[in-house]
Amino acid sequence: MRIDLLTIFPDMFRGPFDESIVKRAVEGGLVSINLHDIRRWAEDRHKTVDDYPYGGGPGMVMKPDVVFAATESVLELAPQREPVILLTPAGRRLTHEIVVELAAKERLVLICGRYEGFDARVHEHLATDEISIGDFVLSGGELAAMALVDAVVRHIPGALGSPQSTVEESFAEGLLEAPHYTRPPEFRGWPVPEVLVSGNHGEVAKWRRLQNILLTARRRPELLASLELTAEEGEWLALQLGEQ
Ligand SMILES: C[S@@+](CC[C@H](N)C(=O)[O-])C[C@H]1O[C@@H](n2cnc3c(N)ncnc32)[C@H](O)[C@@H]1O
Repeated sequence: MRIDLLTIFPDMFRGPFDESIVKRAVEGGLVSINLHDIRRWAEDRHKTVDDYPYGGGPGMVMKPDVVFAATESVLELAPQREPVILLTPAGRRLTHEIVVELAAKERLVLICGRYEGFDARVHEHLATDEISIGDFVLSGGELAAMALVDAVVRHIPGALGSPQSTVEESFAEGLLEAPHYTRPPEFRGWPVPEVLVSGNHGEVAKWRRLQNILLTARRRPELLASLELTAEEGEWLALQLGEQ
């Protein structure tokens, strides 16, 4: 996969992308991450990328001419021309399904906004997708792009030590993930659930599934609505919730 990131703060990406899973994926040739400073395409002496909003109001707006020039030039660097994704609070909210969808692409072009955001013509005539990482406002699209890239890279085959990791983690089956334990078997009087040290893989799998269901029911009940539980699981869950 090739990822092109357009930003006025390319240095922000260097720390997070120089560690751990993303770094390994880049070094292993699974993904290339290309940073482009939008200011390079500003034509005036001051490298201006923003201007006052028509109609007045606070803040500045990212200029369409510079953002179009930067993006069109970057698009020429590889044959695939879509998706061109704007990070914006008005975009579709990032979910596991969207991450999986994006991980199947050969190329992603991500544009990070600043100030009050982009001139509307960037949204209308340049972007092919708009993504938000949640219902809150960040100072810029860079942190949102980092979150998106990190989540997508985990789904590129070979990026994680074990391919099972993405299959078993939260949201993969529409559920939150069960609690994990590691040694010691007892810590400050709190023991590890017996089933986990039993060595019985069937029982462990069953316990984990039930714990996934219970955690999801308690924290994110709306996720359970689109999931089919067996009669046994449903009864067990009702019992657990009734006992609270
Ligand atoms: C200060 S924000 C602009 C907010 C905009 N005026 C509004 O009210 O929707 C500047 C930039 O940060 C990015 N950004 C802010 N919040 C975001 C979010 N929740 N998801 C994705 N990008 C976000 C976008 O690129 C946006 O253009």
